[in-house]
Amino acid sequence: MAARHYLQFKDFTLAEYEHLFARTRWIKERFKRYERYWPLADRTLVMIFEKASTRTRLSFEAGMHQLGGAAIYLNTRDSQLGRGEPVEDAGQVISRMCDLVMIRTFEQSIVERFARTSRVPVINGLTNEYHPCQILADIYTFIEHRGSIRGRTVAWIGDSNNVCNTWLQAAEVFDFNVHVSTPPGYEVEPERAGLYDHSHYEEFTDPMRAAEGADLVTTDVWTSMGFEAENEERLKDFEDWQVDEDMMRAAGPKALFMHCLPAHRGEEVAAGVIDGAQSVVWDEAENRLHTQKALMEFLVLGQVETA
Ligand code: CP
Ligand code: NVA
Repeated sequence: MAARHYLQFKDFTLAEYEHLFARTRWIKERFKRYERYWPLADRTLVMIFEKASTRTRLSFEAGMHQLGGAAIYLNTRDSQLGRGEPVEDAGQVISRMCDLVMIRTFEQSIVERFARTSRVPVINGLTNEYHPCQILADIYTFIEHRGSIRGRTVAWIGDSNNVCNTWLQAAEVFDFNVHVSTPPGYEVEPERAGLYDHSHYEEFTDPMRAAEGADLVTTDVWTSMGFEAENEERLKDFEDWQVDEDMMRAAGPKALFMHCLPAHRGEEVAAGVIDGAQSVVWDEAENRLHTQKALMEFLVLGQVETA
């Protein structure tokens, strides 16, 4: 049977996300009680990084250890991947030596090519186009704080990047709305975002209008990894797209603030917001660990029933 992969958010159905969240709750509670849960004993995760990472590496590596397995870190610099070995050959070889692969790279087509020749499940740990593991954790975090996300409004302020595209796919799966505000020239590209239609998002030229009444306000860096050459231009283009206290007031007192991190205080977010009472960024970061443990369990073992 062909391996199941997690390359973009819409790869899983709503029912599968509901299963993952139920497993996340169970795994997280056991972990907090220091109860051992080793369903992936003797299993190995290979993590391939072509871009920097703190949270993704740590949450996958720690998560795999906590599930009883082992994790191996590879980067482009120290492996043959950086010296032109075809991605398809790497997929063949690496997947014969492990049970699961996580890749952080540039174009989405790279993870797709790798997955085509991989014998084991492949997880997208961030590409230029998508960051599904991030939104998995973000939606779990929203539900922990506010209950169901169905019918809610998420305001995305800033760049229509990999994290934004993934929120837009998630809105189609979970049936919520995204209010997107980007500077001119940085608008959503529906095809690149992999959207079915335009029914779950609305674009606003004024970021304050996008934030009005939102249940969640979220943003990300103005310059993503791989786009560093545009940094100076972006600093100018995005200066009116900072999530600040006025914007959170427009959203209202019950609105949450999220940021995938790393953040730049004084650029895309004011310190008073990210360090303020409405911010749940540390829960969001922690939930990368718990949700990805459920994801790895699901991809390796299938649907494990919660006792
Ligand atoms: N949010 C996130 O993916 O963080 P890292 O780049 O540190 O992995
Ligand atoms: N959009 C950012 C997310 C980092 C976790 C980037 O791709 O660099």
